[in-house]
Amino acid sequence: MALVTTTEMFKKAFDGKYAIGAFNINDMEIIQGVTRAAKVQNSACILQVSKSALKYANPLYLKAMVDAAVAETGIDVALHLDHGPDFETVKEVIDAGFTSVMFDGSHYEYEENVAKTIEVVKYAHERGIVVEAELGKLAGVEDDVKVDSANATYTDPDQAVDFVKRTGVDSLAIAIGTSHGAYKFKGEPKLDFDRLETITNKLEAAGFSKYPIVLHGASSVDPASVEMCNKYGGEIKGARGIPNEMLRKAAGMAVCKINMDTDIRLAMTAGIRKSMAEKPEAFDPRGYLGLARELIQSLVESKIKDVLGSVDSMK
Ligand code: G3H
Ligand code: 13P
Ligand code: ZN
Repeated sequence: MALVTTTEMFKKAFDGKYAIGAFNINDMEIIQGVTRAAKVQNSACILQVSKSALKYANPLYLKAMVDAAVAETGIDVALHLDHGPDFETVKEVIDAGFTSVMFDGSHYEYEENVAKTIEVVKYAHERGIVVEAELGKLAGVEDDVKVDSANATYTDPDQAVDFVKRTGVDSLAIAIGTSHGAYKFKGEPKLDFDRLETITNKLEAAGFSKYPIVLHGASSVDPASVEMCNKYGGEIKGARGIPNEMLRKAAGMAVCKINMDTDIRLAMTAGIRKSMAEKPEAFDPRGYLGLARELIQSLVESKIKDVLGSVDSMK
């Protein structure tokens, strides 16, 4: 079994009205927790790596561990660059064996985003690698770039069509009200589903049938994980994510990839905190990292089953 691109995954997800989970990875425990969960649910999955994860773990280690996870589980896995900031990083991971890349030029002026994305698409497509790009600005923090909610802008549907046409990107991340991190809403959670539908319809009318849309900042900020963190010494206050019903609704529309990092972080931290609090005399990392890995696995199993709907997508 080798790594795959997202092309087939997204076709099946669009037709089947479900989404593939894209989970951020930084170390072995996360890779094992996610892929073992996907195996249990017979689901494909995307493992994604941010620029800071590349710096933390080294792409060579991540690629080797992901290859090992594919050999262990036999499931379809795409290894994806998350929020690639520049051409050099894209090139580095493609050369290291990643099968999918995101180039995030959303903070550039439109024409500059188009030009830079075209350069990435050319390099990737010549090597059989797929490209995700982003249009519109999400609020929140990612890789040291902070966008406050006043500067977040939703994706313009006509611009989305123009962007896809001119760049040839394989999937598009859009801004409809999600945001990165654990504090997504102060008031009532709200996503602009009408905008999502308009974008899909306009793409369809322009000849981009069943075009895969990506939702970033889509952690539900699992209340059980937050509660466990706080019970064992954490101070995570006022955290709020995207309600599961909204994620299910998006997955039933054109959203084929749903990104989650915060939920993994919370589950991992909850496991470590609980283990350390309950066994203060213990100092074997396999104890606390083992519980963290178990909690990641059970979180991802329930995401696949109850939220994404990708159970048995390996059939
Ligand atoms: O969208 C960003 C991801 O949550 C990655 O975060 O840059 O801290 O690894 P990171
Ligand atoms: P969350 O912060 O909601 O987990 O989003 C992660 C993400 O979009 C990674 O690209
Ligand atoms: Zn993101």
